[in-house]
Amino acid sequence: MDRISQLPDELLLRILSLMPLQDVADTMLLSKRWQFLWLMVPALTFDYFDYKLFDEELSNKEFSLYVERYLFLHEAPAIDALRFKLCESWASGDIQVWLKAAEKRSLRELVIKICASTRTESPVVELPRSLSRCFKTLVTLELRNTVLVDDVASPVFFPSLKKLSLESMKYPGDAFVAKLLSSCPDLEDLVVELCPSDNVSIFSVSLLNLKSLVLETSGDISEGEAHGFVIDAPSLEYLKIDDNWDGFCVLENNINKIVKASISTVRPYTEQLICYLSSAKRLDLCFEVSKNLCHVGSVFHHLKHLQICTCETEWLSLLMHMLNNSPNLRYLKLHMRCIKSELRPSWSEASSVPECLLNSLETLEWDDYEGKKEDKEVVAFILKNGFCLEKVIIKPIPTSRKKRKMLKELTFFTRSSPTCRIVYD
Ligand SMILES: *[C@@H]1O[C@H](CO)[C@@H](O)[C@H](O)[C@H]1NC(C)=O
Repeated sequence: MDRISQLPDELLLRILSLMPLQDVADTMLLSKRWQFLWLMVPALTFDYFDYKLFDEELSNKEFSLYVERYLFLHEAPAIDALRFKLCESWASGDIQVWLKAAEKRSLRELVIKICASTRTESPVVELPRSLSRCFKTLVTLELRNTVLVDDVASPVFFPSLKKLSLESMKYPGDAFVAKLLSSCPDLEDLVVELCPSDNVSIFSVSLLNLKSLVLETSGDISEGEAHGFVIDAPSLEYLKIDDNWDGFCVLENNINKIVKASISTVRPYTEQLICYLSSAKRLDLCFEVSKNLCHVGSVFHHLKHLQICTCETEWLSLLMHMLNNSPNLRYLKLHMRCIKSELRPSWSEASSVPECLLNSLETLEWDDYEGKKEDKEVVAFILKNGFCLEKVIIKPIPTSRKKRKMLKELTFFTRSSPTCRIVYD
């Protein structure tokens, strides 16, 4: 311990920042050297569940007082990070008081995550209207299950914000969302999870500098309720959409810098969406398409790594479309990720062999391989035409009873690449 005590304050504070707060406070008992250090720690995480582990009897009230005292005693002129992880019964009042204590401390990261027992339940914790005024220095803001309120007298403005995460929130309406985002001019990273009670029907993202965008939906929305995303983000490099509602997605401007995208939806709006992704190097696709996808000019010249899920009825059309239009593809992964549809797709061998099979495809990986008729036909087609194939990795679906037979069949398929190995996982 003595050797550690000789380290400079700055280093000790950094070590303390990584420790659970309840232990940090205990370090004041070590020696005089440590007496006040705990009050200078620059990153504070108050995780109710961690505290509960130490003290099962801990009531909300006791915890709340503890946090309040800690924050008022805390002396560091700047706090790098302040994180609260709480359960759903939390009163708004407590958070307002805690945040008050952290005001004017050049806070860079604020995280407030409230867990809710059921995902459809409405968020309950209301955030202070003055959030943006008091925390102008924020670079990262992550919120979960909280309520944002509009205040005409104190408009939102986050001049330094780079990363914003809004999960299962409640908003004062569509217009507020647009206003909130437009008040974050430097935002680069946005995560949004919509929930049925969020009071938003069209979530509009219009951000010039945005590089990474994740849009997800949770819970079930009642039928007929409109919802959708409108995206205008010309600098976007990463896009993830995981939307299980019956909605729409409109891209307002061309996005031509996408490097990586992952799209999973139940709606065919993706048919036009995918046409905007032709600059991607990696794609993960899970949706239905009709046979005529992107008529003009969307060749995926840069695409090296492609994942397609095999559960939607039209996955074979999507696969063939992508193979035909991805001349430099090296890695193809097929996997099952959603509930299977009843209708089976039918395989019709392509009249011409996709260029990537002849020239570039090195690996085929198949997760949850079921060995159905069309599955076998696809593997046979790729083995027969894949002149550069090095490895075919097959992971049979765990519930299959005929694994051995299924895998044995594959070894007899004709291979064009003499060095191709079939690996069973
Ligand atoms: C929901 O949004 C509308 C505007 O779209 C607004 O008038 C209304 O007050 C909001 N409801 C709640 C509970 O915030």
